[in-house]
Amino acid sequence: MIVRRSPAELEKLRRSGLLVYRILQQLREMVNEGITTQDLEDTATKLIAAAGAKPAFKGYYSQAAGTKYPFVLCTSVNEEVVHGMPSGRRKLRSGDIVSIDTGVQLDGYYGDSAVTVAVGSINESLERLLKVTEESLELAIDKVRSGNRLFDICGTVEKHVISHGFSIVREFVGHGIGTSLHEEPQIPNYVDRNNENPRLKPGMVLAIEPMVNAGKPETTVLPDRWTAVARDGSYSAHFEHMVAVTDNGPWVLSRP
Ligand code: MF3
Ligand code: CO
Repeated sequence: MIVRRSPAELEKLRRSGLLVYRILQQLREMVNEGITTQDLEDTATKLIAAAGAKPAFKGYYSQAAGTKYPFVLCTSVNEEVVHGMPSGRRKLRSGDIVSIDTGVQLDGYYGDSAVTVAVGSINESLERLLKVTEESLELAIDKVRSGNRLFDICGTVEKHVISHGFSIVREFVGHGIGTSLHEEPQIPNYVDRNNENPRLKPGMVLAIEPMVNAGKPETTVLPDRWTAVARDGSYSAHFEHMVAVTDNGPWVLSRP
């Protein structure tokens, strides 16, 4: 069942979404040659506490990993797709890309958003990877309308990415979000005919998160049990927003 949130609940999700936005803005300004992904983690930890919120990822138990995730951020560098773990040994260098993903819980309601940021100057094909991935998210957001169906979102991401010669990660998906971080429905970034195709209704809140590889789509998980990397070592981008279905079209909760 896909939960439909009342206007008062949407306001709470809005607050969580805007907090995540504010954190990501500050972190992206910090990104520069020489900083470590642990520096980003430390700043995020402080910002979440200062806002009176709780981190959504830290302590999150994953069946697949069999452990609790130990950080407030996922920082996925270059060929890391998602769930990269912050480290004081991981210094960012010019030419890198880093995906920063974070979630919070505020007053019982979750926020979740991600961006991929260039470190220093990156090459043109990487610029294109980031641009196409972000565009695929924006095009999908425009489909978050009452009366549309889930496949309209999935298919829009898929079509845009494939037509630009990149590939869609299939092992990780977007999700509904509300009083849990992960709620129904699952939102693959491709049309999965084996899945249901529910109609979108006002009050539904969707976290849409295209994960796009420059090379082949396959991923593998490192021995740390969390970090997913592109199997062929190609670079990977990830953007995420939480979007509510309203009578007036899409409402992106995770940006002003
Ligand atoms: N944005 C990701 C997701 O929705 C990040 C989850 S990290 C975890 O799945 F630690 F919470 F699993
Ligand atoms: Co998410």
